Amino acid sequence: MSPLPLAFAMPPAPPTDFRRALYAGALFKLAPSEASLRLAHEVHEVLAEAFRDVGDPREAQFRLPAGEHLERLGRVRQVLGREARFLEGARAVLAAAGQEPGAYALDTLRLRGILDRGQEIAAAAPVYFAHRDTWYANPRAQLNWWLALHDAPEEETFTFFPEAFERPVPNSSSTFDYATWRAQAGWQNPRRAASAAYPTSLVPLDGFQERGFACRTGEVLVFSGAHLHRTRPHTSGRTRFSLDFRAVHLEDHHRGLGAPDVDNRSTGSTLEDYVHPATARAGGAA
Ligand SMILES: [Fe+2]
Repeated sequence: MSPLPLAFAMPPAPPTDFRRALYAGALFKLAPSEASLRLAHEVHEVLAEAFRDVGDPREAQFRLPAGEHLERLGRVRQVLGREARFLEGARAVLAAAGQEPGAYALDTLRLRGILDRGQEIAAAAPVYFAHRDTWYANPRAQLNWWLALHDAPEEETFTFFPEAFERPVPNSSSTFDYATWRAQAGWQNPRRAASAAYPTSLVPLDGFQERGFACRTGEVLVFSGAHLHRTRPHTSGRTRFSLDFRAVHLEDHHRGLGAPDVDNRSTGSTLEDYVHPATARAGGAA
């Protein structure tokens, strides 16, 4: 199989070509824009406020009991979901890349905090599962916009298996039903049910090329949610933070456009919980 196009550059100028390339598996790492830097800065401010008494948020995991650290991150996530300026910030990032924000439905903004040695925490195991987002009942047209909140070397980010984009991989997505999962777990719920399904690949991925990337503050990685990817465990001595949001171009979705769906067996659809353009309102990001 020939390697997929890894553009890692400016997207094609016509917005439709950009989306078409993404649905075909292209990965883009966009240079920082005024919008992405502003959003990163605003998230930094919320993080800094949440951990002001213990100093650098990236080192707070060593200065607070685990439960309190998690609780404070939860509060930061509530602010990101509650305050409309963050959803507007995400829409500005779309606009800076030439996309029409009003054409998209957006999921909740997600703050990721990948702990130093987080892989040693049993309850965090699903964080590191290799997966496609489509195995979690996300639409084929879903595009992921991943914003670097700080510089990070390749060892602290995540990886793709581009060769698996169009190739089926045995997986446990048949265990995932969105309505069931939402009742049992939901996004970042510390009281999730132990039986909640977290689909993952069921075979070793040694046969696939694994592609990683380093990033600088404000860079935005854009990729199809159908890409097989996984978060890297790390021992960097600090927490890696990033922000991401999921966007679905509604007209594309309704026309049946999107990435190939080669091995997804999940049921339901997350799209019902996205913020749709017609329903966007102040404070309506949750
Ligand atoms: Fe993912």
